[in-house]
Amino acid sequence: MAQRIHLVAAARPNFMKVAPLWHALSAATDFEPVLIHTGQHYDVNMSDAFFADLKLPEPDFHLGIGSGSHAEQTGGVMIAYEKVAVEHRPDWLVVVGDVNSTAACAMVAAKLGIKCIHLEAGLRSRDRAMPEEINRIVTDALADVLWTPSVDGDENLLNEGVARSRIARVGNIMLDSFELVRPAIEAADVPGELGLERGRYGVVTLHRPSNVDEPAQLIRLTDALIETQGHLPLVFPVHPRTAKRLSAAGRDTILKRAGIRLIEPLPYVRFMSLVTGAAAAITDSGGIQEETTYLGIPCLTLRDTTERPITISEGSNRLVTAETLAVELDRALSSPRLVRKPDLWDGDTASRCVEDLRRRIGPAKLPSAKKSAAEHGSELAQRHGRIEERRRASCGARTQYRRGA
Ligand code: UD1
Repeated sequence: MAQRIHLVAAARPNFMKVAPLWHALSAATDFEPVLIHTGQHYDVNMSDAFFADLKLPEPDFHLGIGSGSHAEQTGGVMIAYEKVAVEHRPDWLVVVGDVNSTAACAMVAAKLGIKCIHLEAGLRSRDRAMPEEINRIVTDALADVLWTPSVDGDENLLNEGVARSRIARVGNIMLDSFELVRPAIEAADVPGELGLERGRYGVVTLHRPSNVDEPAQLIRLTDALIETQGHLPLVFPVHPRTAKRLSAAGRDTILKRAGIRLIEPLPYVRFMSLVTGAAAAITDSGGIQEETTYLGIPCLTLRDTTERPITISEGSNRLVTAETLAVELDRALSSPRLVRKPDLWDGDTASRCVEDLRRRIGPAKLPSAKKSAAEHGSELAQRHGRIEERRRASCGARTQYRRGA
């Protein structure tokens, strides 16, 4: 019998981590991947456009959680996912990254006795004021298997007393997504569409509550961006959280007046087209620190800490403040570009995940490798039919579904 794997996707940075694994599991005859969208992000440009770009199908289950306080989001995902997990019990749950839905689903699995894997385990900023740090600690404490992206992840977990047998270093799955759609990224010309000259602009993203929710910090950062714009034209796809804060503080008008291009959030391919053409990225995102390291593009990270120190020690990232941004940017732009990819950041992480999963399950529990793909396909179709009937009959009103609904 194929092993049923629930894959949870929730928010924008999750989709690039889930897609390569979903594709690798779908191509194998011994797994039945089931895609679950919690609905933490829901705008077209924060969600659906990523599914389209990354060639993901409609989710099998959509929990429709939406925005809310941390407790509302975490609790809402737990209640809704528990129903799905009970009705449609998986052999394994895979959660990715560090968003509220990641910790929520890991908690549900732990209490239902479902084996859980955390993909992107072991990262630590050591700043518990970051909601993501809490989610990382909770998820890693509960998950049975910890798939890490880099050696620092292994070290953090070992230092916390995690048994080595639970840890497998698989590499950085996000870069598999980049390679999956590289031709589309290379074919897109978003800088050209925006009238920007390749290699002569900076791309900005900001969305951390510590940067955008506190008005004094938002003013400091936007002043620093205006100063930077004097040296390097900036384009700024604005996250919905940030758009609200900029508008409330009247800073959007001030940024535009200074010539900074404020644009809507971009889907994955278009955003990566913008990044690949940039002289530098200025950001507080985790994923962009990794993508720029992979591409050798200087990254100025507006944070005091990073849970991804390897992007500094082996990559193109440096931590900056509003006060040091201009001088650090000048330094980065006048230094030669070095592309130093950390070990296993090679676009092949999903296949290592599948191999690790097979090794843990053991050949006796996996369907015969001799079964043809056609046989496997008809078995899956029958199974999906039964699942569909059961979930229509028995799941609660809070849970919303898309596929086949
Ligand atoms: C969440 C994650 C963060 C991740 C980020 C990527 C947590 C704790 N935070 O933060 O780790 O880096 O996603 O974007 O899980 N909104 C929309 N449309 C959407 C989504 C959000 O308008 O599709 C608005 C809502 O007003 C919402 C606000 O953005 O209240 C913030 O969204 P939320 O999901 O709470 O947190 P993020 O800042 O996106």
